[in-house]
Amino acid sequence: MGCFPCSGKSSKNLNKKHNDIPKDRIASTTSDKVKLNLAADVKKEASLKEGSKDGGSDHIAAHTFTFRELAAATKNFRADCLLGEGGFGRVYKGRLESTNQVVAIKQLDRNGLQGNREFLVEVLMLSLLHHPNLVNLIGYCADGEQRLLVYEYMRLGSLEDHLHDLPPDRKGLDWNTRMKIAAGAAKGLEYLHDKANPPVIYRDLKCSNILLGKDYHPKLSDFGLAKLGPVGDNTHVSTRVMGTYGYCAPEYAMTGQLTLRSDVYSFGVVLLEIITGRRAIENSRGAGEHNLVAWARPLFTDRRKFSLMADPLLQGQYPVRGLYQVLAVAAMCVQEEPTMRPLIADVVTALSYLASQKYNPETQPVQNSRSGSSTPRSRREQ
Ligand SMILES: Nc1ncnc2c1ncn2[C@@H]1O[C@H](COP(=O)(O)OP(=O)(O)OP(=O)(O)O)[C@@H](O)[C@H]1O
Ligand SMILES: [Mg+2]
Repeated sequence: MGCFPCSGKSSKNLNKKHNDIPKDRIASTTSDKVKLNLAADVKKEASLKEGSKDGGSDHIAAHTFTFRELAAATKNFRADCLLGEGGFGRVYKGRLESTNQVVAIKQLDRNGLQGNREFLVEVLMLSLLHHPNLVNLIGYCADGEQRLLVYEYMRLGSLEDHLHDLPPDRKGLDWNTRMKIAAGAAKGLEYLHDKANPPVIYRDLKCSNILLGKDYHPKLSDFGLAKLGPVGDNTHVSTRVMGTYGYCAPEYAMTGQLTLRSDVYSFGVVLLEIITGRRAIENSRGAGEHNLVAWARPLFTDRRKFSLMADPLLQGQYPVRGLYQVLAVAAMCVQEEPTMRPLIADVVTALSYLASQKYNPETQPVQNSRSGSSTPRSRREQ
């Protein structure tokens, strides 16, 4: 799910105490100042279904579960069923007794009304929006105080799990898989921006919210922060600033004006993470390297430095031309000036092409990641 003001995250830290305030979450107001109007929110979000351009579901398809059913599915939320934990609560793997289906169940922390609002937005958004690159909401539970969301189980976890802090015995993602994930995630975003009516601004695009299914098929998850986009002649919606440090577009962080281009910026950051294997914010790195975009910007201007940006875990196994092209896309997405960023539809076109150009390290040159020079496979093996 998305994020609360001043609450959140680290899916990896399973031992994290509840209610820890994460440093990477941002919000311009504290939850107690936030005026909520749940009825209006639901009405507003529900109006989506009337305007859905793609003729998608015109009824809320999600199933309602009792708390008992979900407790049974997760063996009473047993620790060994825990998949991860984010800003909203814990995610468990479970099996529904009625259908035998394996699912992921997110149990929301009881954080009061704000949590309920995000819960409603998530249920409504996911009930009304359907695309192969958006995670499926199977159902939800709103028994008494309990708020749970039931999703399709994504067997390969999140993109974050495959890019960062890999155990030494695990191989990094190969080039082709990275391009496939980038293109698929862009298609999910394109659906939200261009096919949904009114458009949906996702607002929380980041690696932990890109989930991976069979064969690394990517799906966007967590719509609790999504906003119905500008309608009519408006170019932006004004909102309090929420999101995650490192992914948030500069103009949105400064003015609270949210546009579709803010999502394109976040997408650019994700794309940079996919290429470089670096985190959006990494304070353990040296001076000038904490912020991925700030580190990358000067390198974008010098082609000879592009090879320094390739993830060392690729071990030089990438196409030089493909690397240049994908870096060019990332550079355009993270431009300071929002109007200079491409539309997500153009990003989809570029990345779909790049994903279709399969790289084969057996037959194509492998790069020497330090110098940028290439070595044919046959020579390397001698
Ligand atoms: N549908 C799913 N299938 C499989 N694993 C999932 C699913 N949803 C979430 N997870 C796992 O649970 C972890 C926590 O997810 P969650 O969305 O709660 O937090 P997050 O994305 O890390 O942070 P945030 O709260 O900021 O979105 C994910 O990183 C992922 O590993
Ligand atoms: Mg998430």
